[in-house]
Amino acid sequence: MHKGFTLWFTGLSGSGKTTISTLIHERLRQAGAKVEMLDGDIVRENLSQGLGFSKQDRDTNIRRIGFVCELLSRHGVIAIVAAISPYREAREDVRRRVENFVEVYVECPLEVTASRDVKGLYKKALAGEIPHFTGVTDPYEPPLAPEVIIHSDQENPRQSADRVWATLKELGLVSF
Ligand code: ADX
Repeated sequence: MHKGFTLWFTGLSGSGKTTISTLIHERLRQAGAKVEMLDGDIVRENLSQGLGFSKQDRDTNIRRIGFVCELLSRHGVIAIVAAISPYREAREDVRRRVENFVEVYVECPLEVTASRDVKGLYKKALAGEIPHFTGVTDPYEPPLAPEVIIHSDQENPRQSADRVWATLKELGLVSF
C-alpha cells in the first residue's frame, strides 16, 4: 500500500509546514499507513533539546532528524518532517542518505508570515529581541529542485495537501 519514504517540509516559520503536514499525516493514518511525524518544535523539546539556532546547531538538528528518517524509511515507515531546515546543503545531505526523499517547499513571502505571526516571534525578531531569526536576521536557502512547491499565501491547506498527495501517488510511493 505504501513504500518507506521521507516527506520533508521546509520553509519559513509560520509558512504552514505544520498545518499541511498534519493534514497529510492524518490522511495517511486513516488509510492505515505506518507513519511518524517529526515536527521541529517537538523535536527541539526531545531529540534536539539544548540546541540553539546557530548554523552549526541547526545543521546538527537536521542531521539528527535525517538519521531518524533514514532508519524509519529503511523499515518501510513513512517519516514526515516539518522543520525550517534553512540550509540547502543540510537538506541535500539527508536526501543522499534517505531511500525515497520528497522535498516540499512551503513558499510564503516574509511579509505574509510576519503579518500572520502565529507565535508572536516575528514582532520580537523585527524589534531585535531574537537574534538569528530565519528570514529576518538569518538566511533561508530555498530548494532548487523540490518535488513540490506550495504557495501557502495563494491556496488553502487542503488544496496544498491534495497536491502533496497527488505527487506521492505519481512517484509510486502510495497506492491507496
Ligand atoms: S531549524 O532551523 O533547526 O530547522 P526548527 O524547525 O527546528 O528550525 O525550529 C524552528 C522553530 O523554532 C520556529 O518555528 C520558532 O517557533 C522557533 N524559533 C526560535 N528561535 C528561532 C530563530 N532564531 N529562528 C527560527 N526559528 C526560531
